[in-house]
Amino acid sequence: MSARIKVAIVGATGETGRSVVDGLLAVDGLLAADASFEIMALVRPSSLEKPATASLKARGVKVVPAELQGSHDQLVHILKGIEVVISTIHYQALSDEIFLANAAKAAGIQRYVPCFWATVAPRGIMQLRDDKEAILDHVQRLRLPYTVIDVGWWFQLAVPRIPSGCFDYGLVAPANSVFGDGNVPSALTDVRDIGLYAAKIISDPRTLNKKVFAFTETWTQNQIFEAVERVSGERPESTKASAEEMEANVARCRQAGSGLNQERAQFEYYHSWGVRGDNSPECAKYLGYVAFEELYPGFKGRRLTDYLEDLANNKAAKPYSQ
Ligand SMILES: NC(=O)c1ccc[n+]([C@@H]2O[C@H](COP(=O)([O-])OP(=O)(O)OC[C@H]3O[C@@H](n4cnc5c(N)ncnc54)[C@H](OP(=O)(O)O)[C@@H]3O)[C@@H](O)[C@H]2O)c1
Repeated sequence: MSARIKVAIVGATGETGRSVVDGLLAVDGLLAADASFEIMALVRPSSLEKPATASLKARGVKVVPAELQGSHDQLVHILKGIEVVISTIHYQALSDEIFLANAAKAAGIQRYVPCFWATVAPRGIMQLRDDKEAILDHVQRLRLPYTVIDVGWWFQLAVPRIPSGCFDYGLVAPANSVFGDGNVPSALTDVRDIGLYAAKIISDPRTLNKKVFAFTETWTQNQIFEAVERVSGERPESTKASAEEMEANVARCRQAGSGLNQERAQFEYYHSWGVRGDNSPECAKYLGYVAFEELYPGFKGRRLTDYLEDLANNKAAKPYSQ
């Protein structure tokens, strides 16, 4: 018997959203009970003409114009009959998820996947993380069935540039700053695999009302530099940022008091995974996450070394280039 799971996604034109759509569309044969997905993308009216929206349509995704801050009743109407609602919304629009969750509850959806998709940490370390937890609080107050999916840091943001510039075409944010002693392990995933992991997770009753940590490998920054040198034959240049400097950077951003901006989000991320070591399987277990690798032993995405080979062979795509 085959099961067709109806999914609605907000943020499908973005990087994480594109991976989720690709993963859900690619799962034939990977899921139990021959499950597959029917995908509807809720796209802001102002984004309907974007190439990323056209690309969704070309991949068979039903595109529906929707403004989360618009009519509640209309949003409920759109979500009627949907089983899973997924958010991969931009971090500065997270609060709009309140409207999405309210509509999902009223429409009777069976699983809500709030926008997490990042590194693991306790509360009080990263404002961005805390904003996501506040949405989860709201979801839980609604008693809306949910699944949180965190994936660690993307490979695509973890690789330093090399002196020849041969990797520059694929790197959106070269990772040449080494935090602390560079020996803190951090969980990493290729952004292209997020959707494959999501497909497994959202079709599995065991992950309902759970947080799942779905990452591929752990690496320290020093190990990444060594791997880059092995693949490229070039030693990346590095800038050291001590634990004390990172703490001072975080404190400065917080004192500036202008809320969450990209600089604060980045420093808090780097301090959390690069100095504190929050983004580890051990920390995730402590925080109550279910481990993806325990649910699906042997189901692994691309290795970091595969991605480095792609970069070296001009086969890597630069994130956010669409
Ligand atoms: N793990 C990591 O290393 C990592 C790296 C980057 C991001 N992330 C996380 O991944 C999540 C998604 O980030 P991303 O970088 O993938 O996103 P992104 O590429 O910036 O895309 C954001 C998406 O949100 C949509 N959006 C923006 N404002 C909206 C609004 N008001 N209403 C509805 N949709 C709106 C955009 O649609 P339009 O086409 O309409 O603009 C777009 O589809 C974030 O939570 C972020 O923290 C994690």
